[in-house]
Amino acid sequence: MTHIHGHPTRVAIIGAGNVGATFAYALLLSGLSSEIVLIDANQAKAEGEAMDLMHAVPLGPPTRVLAGGYEDCAGAAVTVVTAGSAQRPGETRLDLAARNTEIFRQIIPNIVRNNPDGILVIATNPVDVLTFASQKFSGLPFERVIGSGTILDTARFRYLLSQHFGVDPRSVHAFIIGEHGDSEVPVWSLANLAGMRLPVYCAANGMHCTPETLTDIFQQTRDAAYHIIERKGATFYAIASGLTRLVEAIVRDQSTVMSVSSRIQNYYGISDVCFSLPTVIDGGGVERVIQLELDTEELDGLKKSAEVLKNTIHHLKL
Ligand code: LAC
Repeated sequence: MTHIHGHPTRVAIIGAGNVGATFAYALLLSGLSSEIVLIDANQAKAEGEAMDLMHAVPLGPPTRVLAGGYEDCAGAAVTVVTAGSAQRPGETRLDLAARNTEIFRQIIPNIVRNNPDGILVIATNPVDVLTFASQKFSGLPFERVIGSGTILDTARFRYLLSQHFGVDPRSVHAFIIGEHGDSEVPVWSLANLAGMRLPVYCAANGMHCTPETLTDIFQQTRDAAYHIIERKGATFYAIASGLTRLVEAIVRDQSTVMSVSSRIQNYYGISDVCFSLPTVIDGGGVERVIQLELDTEELDGLKKSAEVLKNTIHHLKL
C-alpha cells in the first residue's frame, strides 16, 4: 500500500473514456496509489472499467479500484480530470473550449465541495484554457490546479530528437513551452545532448543539424495528435503515461521538473494566463516555475502563444 503521511493514497479520475481509463490502467500498474476511483456521468462505463481493472489487481500491485460519485473524491491526494469532448478529425483543441468550459462549470465545484484540500490535475483540452477555468471555478490556490500542458509535446519532441541522434530518448533534454496546441514553442536554444547544445554536439560529432531537419522535427511534434487522431480516432497512451509521471512527482514529493500548464504571473511581462513552462512539481503541486533564458525568437513565440490563449479566455469571459 502506498501511503502519504500515514494514510492510503487515493487518486480520483473524472472521466472514464479513452484517456481516463488508460490513465487508470497505467496508474494501477505503477503501484503509485492504493485506491483508484473512477467517476463518469455514464455510471455503467465507470463500473465496467473499474470491474475490468480490478481483475488486473491479482496480477499486479495491490490496489483498490472502484467506480463512484463525486463524494468519493473526498480524501484524494490528486483528482485528475479527463472528462469532456475530445478532438474529432479536423478539429483543433481550441475548438473544444466553449463546450468543455461549460462541462467544467459543473465538474469542478462538485470535486472541490468533496475535496477542498487535494490537488487538481487537468488533462481535458484545451488544457491551458481549462486549467485557467478550473482555477477560477475551484477557488483553490493556483499551485494546486495544474494542467498536463506540454508534458506530452516535450515527450514527443525528445523522442523525435532521440531518433535523429540515435540515442535513448531519456538522454536528450529539450522542452516545448507555451500552449499545448498549434502555437507551442520549441526551446532550441536550451536543447542539449551530453551537456552540449545541439549545434555544438553536431559540429563536435560530425553530424548535420540542418535547419530543415530541426524544423521538420518540431512540426512532427506539434502536429502529432492530428496524425494520430486521423488514424485511430484519439490519443491516450502517451498522455496516460504523462499523467502517471505527474502524479508520481506529486505523491512522492519528488521536486521533478516537468513542462506542466500553470498560472503565469509576470514571466517576461506575461501574466493572467495558463500555459506550460518547465516547473518544479512536488507534494504541494507547483513549487515554482523555472525562469528560462529564452532567445528573441522563442520569447516572441511565447508571447504569441499567450495572446492566443488570452483571446480565448477573454472570449469565454473567464
Ligand atoms: C494530444 C492530446 C492529449 O496531444 O491533446 O495527444
